[in-house]
Amino acid sequence: MNRLFANPDGPTLNAGILEENVRLKILSKRSQRMATAFKRIVNGIFESFPAPKELPKFLYVVANDENGKLIGALNADTQLGWLSIYGLWVDKKYRKAGVATKIMRAAELEAKRRRCRRVLVSSLDFQAPGFYRKLGYKRYGVIRNYLKGYTMHFFEKTI
Ligand SMILES: CC(C)(COP(=O)(O)OP(=O)(O)OC[C@H]1O[C@@H](n2cnc3c(N)ncnc32)[C@H](O)[C@@H]1OP(=O)(O)O)[C@@H](O)C(=O)NCCC(=O)NCCS
Repeated sequence: MNRLFANPDGPTLNAGILEENVRLKILSKRSQRMATAFKRIVNGIFESFPAPKELPKFLYVVANDENGKLIGALNADTQLGWLSIYGLWVDKKYRKAGVATKIMRAAELEAKRRRCRRVLVSSLDFQAPGFYRKLGYKRYGVIRNYLKGYTMHFFEKTI
């Protein structure tokens, strides 16, 4: 007998698949399985997309001193006309000397070369909202208590 009818309070039928037959797994480490799942997600996202398929492309900027020591870096990606910045850091010894501004300009320039016209970045209260404002970024939203007692500020800019 069909298991569905055998137990009306039991498993439900979803798109023809018994939910009890779907086994879920949490993947916390990079693996072939994760890479395969990611590829399927990306393809799935583009299933109903009104724009050409374009995967995120890494954009890193690194700054070195005259001896080649790393003194600053930015990690970001570009996709679908957007530069998304995830991290920016300058060595304490070199701060307030315009290094981060140079790094940001380089990232924006490379993003423009890749035909991006807009930038997204976020920053917590104790990080650098004032820095992004100085570079012409406009705040479009906040999440209060993103970390207990601290607000996350979301910025965008047209380049
Ligand atoms: C934020 C950070 C990248 C700035 O680097 P920097 O090289 O000192 O920045 P710049 O010298 O290019 O600063 C440009 C201007 O922004 C100001 N500014 C720099 N950091 C600022 C901050 N945290 N808040 C407000 N204004 C800031 C500078 O005073 C300068 O202003 P001025 O033009 O009037 O003199 C650096 O302080 C850092 O690595 N902080 C720790 C990591 C971090 O918070 N990263 C940002 C995550 S969102």
